[in-house]
Amino acid sequence: MVKKRGVPPWILKYKGEIERREIKVEDVLEMENRLREKPIKISTVTRVINAMGCSFAGLRRGEEKKIRVGVVGCGAIGSEICKAIDGDEDLGMELKFLIDKHPERIERLYESLGKKPDIIKSDSSGLAKSLAAVDLVIECASQAAVREFVIPALKKGKEVMILSVGALLCVPGLFEEIESISKEKGCKVYIPSGAVAGIDGLKSGAIGGIHSVELTTRKPPLGFEGNKYVKEKGIDLLSIEKEKTLFMGHAMEAVKHFPENVNVAASLSLAGIGSEATKVKIVADPSAAENVHEIEVHGEFGKLFVRVENVPSIANPKTSYLAALSAIATLKSISYPIRVGT
Ligand SMILES: NC(=O)c1ccc[n+]([C@@H]2O[C@H](COP(=O)([O-])OP(=O)(O)OC[C@H]3O[C@@H](n4cnc5c(N)ncnc54)[C@H](O)[C@@H]3O)[C@@H](O)[C@H]2O)c1
Repeated sequence: MVKKRGVPPWILKYKGEIERREIKVEDVLEMENRLREKPIKISTVTRVINAMGCSFAGLRRGEEKKIRVGVVGCGAIGSEICKAIDGDEDLGMELKFLIDKHPERIERLYESLGKKPDIIKSDSSGLAKSLAAVDLVIECASQAAVREFVIPALKKGKEVMILSVGALLCVPGLFEEIESISKEKGCKVYIPSGAVAGIDGLKSGAIGGIHSVELTTRKPPLGFEGNKYVKEKGIDLLSIEKEKTLFMGHAMEAVKHFPENVNVAASLSLAGIGSEATKVKIVADPSAAENVHEIEVHGEFGKLFVRVENVPSIANPKTSYLAALSAIATLKSISYPIRVGT
């Protein structure tokens, strides 16, 4: 009969340090053999670490420690992020868990990955165990997912990246809660620039003083089809022949009427002068082929004008391809020692 080998109790005293990647396999071997009359071998240590459900990759001396990543949301942005982590060794990251409420999306992504993550979930059940396996949690799911996954991750001392940045504008008190936990735990919260450019200049300008920030979003008229505010205003989108301003107001008000603009308005508000001082103009323009964002900033530094003509993501036309790329660029800035740009 083959003897079933489980998790021996002696390894449990090192479990916390192993999960936090604070100890090497060789250290466990050395400490354990100091306590034993009959020494154990390094292969025994790696086997029991595996049996405990922990990976020992990066736990050997001289082996590069990879940043262990969990991704919530396997849609347009999540899939691009996972493929980048899987395919770019230089990122120095490894995927440990995937979570999505649509199992078929996880399955499709899982099949496309070379190195398969260990944990697959469709909700936040068993989240504590999933969080123990990672250093960084990337939220690219929905506003609701920010509270559901980001807050517990920060409470466990994990770093986080948030793509559904609109939640920080729309959910009262959420930004302050995230700020307070991350300060207490000493964890970073990464918010990529997403579908806009110019966040670097806006952040720099804010140091010297900003006088105004204005975002103009332009789309073909039919891009606003089904919008409740447009309907209530009695605007006939089909009869628009030259550009027409549909809305002018501050960012907080804009996202209520044009939720599709929420992430861009939130990123600009957070980087600059807040959601009540950031002005938003929404224009239906028959000559626009794509979703165009123009950002104009006036400050002590001078004037900044940026125009982004976004190509929609193939997997989700509501999402700009640039948003996924900006998340991957942020991952690069986390793992590379030299950081270019503000
Ligand atoms: N920062 C930006 O500029 C920017 C730009 C585009 C999109 N976004 C935001 O990023 C997020 C992802 O965008 P996308 O285009 O990849 O969306 P998507 O719809 O293609 O994918 C989202 C995935 O998350 C899953 N999901 C949603 N809520 C979940 C939950 N609570 N638990 C588990 N799974 C959940 C969905 O099933 C879906 O598969 C959205 O919130 C979107 O608004 C941000």
